[in-house]
Amino acid sequence: MKIKKKLSLIDQHDKNGFWGGKFGGSFVPETLKKPIEDLTLVFEKLRKNKNFIKKRDHYFKNYIGSPTSFVKLDNLTDHLNGAQIWTKIVSEANGGAHKIYNATVHALICKSMGKKYIIGDTGAGYAGKMLSMAAKKFGLKCKIFMGAKDIKRQKPNCDAMRKNGAEIIPVYTGSQTLIDAVSECMRYWVSNCDTTHMCVGSTVGPNIFVKICGWSTSQISRELKQQLCEQFGEIPKKMKLYNCVGGGSSSFGFWNEFIKYDKKQIELIGVEAGGPYRSNKHAAPLTNNCKIGILHGAMQYVVQNKDGQIEETESISAGLDYSGVSPLHCYLKDSKRARYVSASDEEALNAYKLVTKFENINPSLEPCHAFAIACKEAKKLSRDTIIIVNSCGDAIKDRDIIKDRLGKRYV
Ligand SMILES: Cc1ncc(COP(=O)(O)O)c(C=O)c1O
Repeated sequence: MKIKKKLSLIDQHDKNGFWGGKFGGSFVPETLKKPIEDLTLVFEKLRKNKNFIKKRDHYFKNYIGSPTSFVKLDNLTDHLNGAQIWTKIVSEANGGAHKIYNATVHALICKSMGKKYIIGDTGAGYAGKMLSMAAKKFGLKCKIFMGAKDIKRQKPNCDAMRKNGAEIIPVYTGSQTLIDAVSECMRYWVSNCDTTHMCVGSTVGPNIFVKICGWSTSQISRELKQQLCEQFGEIPKKMKLYNCVGGGSSSFGFWNEFIKYDKKQIELIGVEAGGPYRSNKHAAPLTNNCKIGILHGAMQYVVQNKDGQIEETESISAGLDYSGVSPLHCYLKDSKRARYVSASDEEALNAYKLVTKFENINPSLEPCHAFAIACKEAKKLSRDTIIIVNSCGDAIKDRDIIKDRLGKRYV
């Protein structure tokens, strides 16, 4: 499997929507064929339209607050005494996470299709919060589907959604987490697609949703590329980009501009949720060599049992607690362009302690998975290696969990 250098990975699928001939596609009920065809036509037209790009860039800058900072973590670097540790603080984006890029683009698409209703799924609550923000900004009516377990553990984001006027639809089926929220949202869309636009909250789902989300979050790597050139005068010769991977939207956005570089120059490391230490529960289909299956309209590696039934996942971070993973990442794994590992709940909590002890940043439990592995590997590397971690979410939403697991002094 070979990745082309001149074309963005989001466009390197075949005519049936498969990356590498086997990941992705669009497995949807008959009723959704036409709405998906319409959405594909609209998106492909809009992304080539100069006025639309101007509008997107206007909102990225003046509504989201792009570019987010790129800073060196000096104290952490000195403490680990290995590679340099830098971070892109994507949590500075309006709302506190990268999900705002996808939500804003979907709201603009919804408006241009003349639809007044928008729906979406959420796990950690950031995708839902951001969609509720974008709906409020652009005058759309919004419904968010969220697993009942996640509603309990991510209260601050639920409060924000309600404050923004969105209706939260609790999902009580299955594990009551993100997987069930996406399923329920898609089911609702089947019956309401004439009036309603659907936003999928990550680079998952039928082909077109993977593309829209990847196209939107790629703003992160566009900014980073420019910031690297300003900082170092060139793209560094030895660089490693660490990012947590749930569905895969922040990691894809953080990497897109750098995929074409040789992996000896720029290594891409995706960190999945390993779940509780010493348990056999996890949310890491790539690290654990899970089999390929169909989930939410696409072929991908899926956490499943011997009979091919989707297995329940477990992670301390709601945002990573998902059985599947983007077809883009499945392709990056098979082509060996990216390396995937996992960090346990406990490693993520320890990374939160370590990072907040030395630095004034407050990464949520999702990026703490990436910090855990980056800090471990940094110790073995020399100072001329540049490690960059995407700090893609703010830990305000994790207050209760952090207080419960680490004690009051950490919140
Ligand atoms: C802060 C944060 N990081 C990461 C994720 C994982 O999703 P993805 O892999 O699509 O970026 C989420 C999902 O909700 C999130 O809220």
